[in-house]
Amino acid sequence: MELTDRHGRKHRSLRISIVDKCDLRCTYCMPEDQHFLKREELMTRKEISTIAKLFVERHGITKIRITGGEPLVRPDAGDIVRDMAQLGVSLGLTTNAMTLDRHLDGLIAAGLKNLNISLDTFDAERFKKIARRDGFDRVWASILLALEKGLRVKVNMVVMRGVNEDEILRFVEFTREHDVHVRFIEFMPFAGNHWGRERVYTYAEMLGHIGSVHTVEKLIDDPHSTAKAYRVPGWPGTFAVISTVTEPFCGDCDRLRLTAEGKMRNCLFTREETDLLSALRRGEDIAPLIEANVLAKHAMLGGLPQFKPEKEEEVLHDLSERPMVSIGG
Ligand code: 5AD
Ligand code: SF4
Repeated sequence: MELTDRHGRKHRSLRISIVDKCDLRCTYCMPEDQHFLKREELMTRKEISTIAKLFVERHGITKIRITGGEPLVRPDAGDIVRDMAQLGVSLGLTTNAMTLDRHLDGLIAAGLKNLNISLDTFDAERFKKIARRDGFDRVWASILLALEKGLRVKVNMVVMRGVNEDEILRFVEFTREHDVHVRFIEFMPFAGNHWGRERVYTYAEMLGHIGSVHTVEKLIDDPHSTAKAYRVPGWPGTFAVISTVTEPFCGDCDRLRLTAEGKMRNCLFTREETDLLSALRRGEDIAPLIEANVLAKHAMLGGLPQFKPEKEEEVLHDLSERPMVSIGG
């Protein structure tokens, strides 16, 4: 049965987190005192494959993205990507690229075509501050390598006022140099990430800033896209803004998520989760659980009142039950 929610939206896209650990500790994503799951709490490769197969064959999912934490810290990440590729879906992987160079050939051989890579700065010292670990040179080298090998690369930059907003034009410049898709993401509130409204550098500000220097052309967005895409005419790459905070885009949302411990979430911001893994381990049929989870999906932002400016502080502040690292980017 197709996965339709009570607002009539059909769901075709699934993000699967395969591990909640990471070899970086970005301040916007992971609290200092983050506790990680034990190995036996994680879905096994076999369990991931069983659940994913069900989503695809029984529920019409056509897009899968593997995430974490950092998916490549899991020793069997390559095998899992291969399993997913065999399901005949459009497949992507979100990574911080710290160890991507070692994995790249294997991932390509496994059938991977789309990579989302996180990069928030071009400055090595600043990278260390944001990620609480050294790594700019490795990440940058891996991004260039992935482009060279012909993968479709999206680079995600989380823009935070007072941290890295002064580098937006440098990232736009990257789309002149390469056929790359840069995505500027508004800083979102999650557990333990010291979010504050004043730290959100907004979609309007980003466009104003870029538009004061470059002529920009709006591109047509895919109906289910979370990003508003643009380019500088004549440049090979494109850029987009993900405006979750100031202009949420829930209307055509077709996304579902599975955490590394096998809990299903119908929205990044939801407070309701369905424990698919425990049911699977008890030998139950999980299809009805999946259907019920999707049906209950709220129209917007996991059922929170809209991000009204005057209420934003209060509403956003208490929505963050999990940090992003344990939801899956
Ligand atoms: N705000 C916006 N995006 C975030 N990500 C993680 N935490 C946040 C946040 N607080 C996104 C980044 C990263 C991906 C793994 O998740 O884009 O690249
Ligand atoms: Fe790790 Fe990605 Fe979170 Fe940074 S954003 S801590 S790289 S999972």
